[in-house]
Amino acid sequence: TYNTENKVIHDYNNLILSLPRENGCETEYMYFFHGFWCPSYLIQSVNTFQNKFHAKDNDIVVASMPKSGTTWLKGLAYAIVNRQHFTSLENNNHPLLLFNPHELVPLFEVNLYGGKDILLPQIDVSNMIEPRLFGTHIPFLSLPKSVKESSCKIIYICRNPFDTFVSYWNYINKVRSKKSLTELTLEESFERYCKGICLFGPFWDNMLGYLKESIERPHKVLFLKYEDLKEDVNFHIKRIAEFVGFPFTQEEENNGVVENIIKLCSFESMKESKGNQSETVSTIYEKKFFFRKGEIGDWVNYFSPSMIERLSKVIEEKLSGSNLSF
Ligand code: A3P
Repeated sequence: TYNTENKVIHDYNNLILSLPRENGCETEYMYFFHGFWCPSYLIQSVNTFQNKFHAKDNDIVVASMPKSGTTWLKGLAYAIVNRQHFTSLENNNHPLLLFNPHELVPLFEVNLYGGKDILLPQIDVSNMIEPRLFGTHIPFLSLPKSVKESSCKIIYICRNPFDTFVSYWNYINKVRSKKSLTELTLEESFERYCKGICLFGPFWDNMLGYLKESIERPHKVLFLKYEDLKEDVNFHIKRIAEFVGFPFTQEEENNGVVENIIKLCSFESMKESKGNQSETVSTIYEKKFFFRKGEIGDWVNYFSPSMIERLSKVIEEKLSGSNLSF
């Protein structure tokens, strides 16, 4: 029997077959779709997201390449925006101590429109309390029109590609191991990373798309670096709060609210919190996978001299001309 659902599946299968394909990282294959690489299960969800989602002017979106500090920034954004509900940020009931930031700030393409095929909890967008906080790894140009054109705010975080790659490689192998897939070698993954073939990559296109927008529309996109946040998180939390329209009052600063948020979202606190201990985000994506070392410069333990040279060249070639450097 031929019904609408079969037709949709058939159309998607045809679309998928027509796309450029490479070996995947946490799935068998990855496809080049809308200017970025993603597993087949995301193709339908990205389409649904583009067709169905309507941004509200007070929405806040945390955007990033995977492994750039998304979990941290989601935590910070959530803590900043919701701080009036939690007067004492030191109590043990703060949602950030009981849940993983990915449960509090859902990814559009995974937790909202991922469908039942993705083994992750789905969130009903109509039940969300405002201002709604979302996450995404999709490049700016591929976001739905309403996200790009409404007054909703986007905070983008990027990270030194050397550390991002090391974090990514460790992460995908943990996921692969849960799926009983063989480990990807460092060399193989690195080769593909340098060609731009990684989840939501090429990384340079993803970064440059948001960077351009942050320059042209500074009230729309705030562009951050993981390294800068590490260096002076106090300064950047205040910038973020101001950007999303929730600036700290002098009284709050005097009362240590900023410091409490820093503590609440610190690597150690998040990693050790009750919310990140026992439970898993799903059977495949364990919460603890999101917390490894949280350091700058761990790449020196992984890179050979030729790898350093290769990635430096890629960065030079792809990012020169922008004012982005690492
Ligand atoms: P490492 O693998 O280098 O340790 P994402 O959140 O985008 O998936 O990125 C994960 C990276 O951010 C991991 O890097 C992880 O350890 C680090 N991270 C997670 N929470 C953090 C926090 N609260 N502060 C700093 N880094 C954090």
